[in-house]
Amino acid sequence: MVLSIGFCGLVCATLLVYGCSQKATIEIEEVPTLAHVMDPLLNDASEVFWDSAGFIDTYEGTTDLTPTTEEGWQKVIDAADEITRLSAVLQEERYSLNRPAWNELSKSLVAAADRGRQSVVDRDGAELFEAGAQLYQVCVACHQTFWSNNRFAIDE
Ligand code: HEC
Repeated sequence: MVLSIGFCGLVCATLLVYGCSQKATIEIEEVPTLAHVMDPLLNDASEVFWDSAGFIDTYEGTTDLTPTTEEGWQKVIDAADEITRLSAVLQEERYSLNRPAWNELSKSLVAAADRGRQSVVDRDGAELFEAGAQLYQVCVACHQTFWSNNRFAIDE
């Protein structure tokens, strides 16, 4: 009994020290984890695309999500810029581990972001919707390839 408590104390103390030193490293280097790059960074930027295109049907009627103000369109441009920035972040070696398919998928984010940016220039809501769909396909493709315990994956 005494032994097992002693053992637990040792394990807990080790975990505490490990936990602290890990935190310190993150604070000094300020390198976000991959999960943080995904969510909130990439996820939030992508949601601007998805929330700025298409229609929502409710009992009250149909709402067109296409931006109606300059601010609304500008938000999409900002999101496209952020997605482009994060594509480059994902291609850093610490995330890509030099995997060619990873880098290709990361670059595909830029193609979708560029398409969204052009749709803003053209004020083309339907095209923005297509850009959002293209963006989503890149997320799914990479998750299917590189996210082994993806909760959305289909069991084989
Ligand atoms: C280059 C590959 C790649 C691309 C492209 C990619 N993801 Fe991910 N994503 C991953 C991997 C790998 C994980 C698992 C990360 C982990 O949990 O350590 C992940 C996890 C996530 C998560 C869960 C994060 C968490 O809390 O664990 C979200 C949300 C997410 N991605 C959103 C997106 C969205 C939105 C897009 C598209 C706009 C996208 N991802 C594109 C590789 C990618």
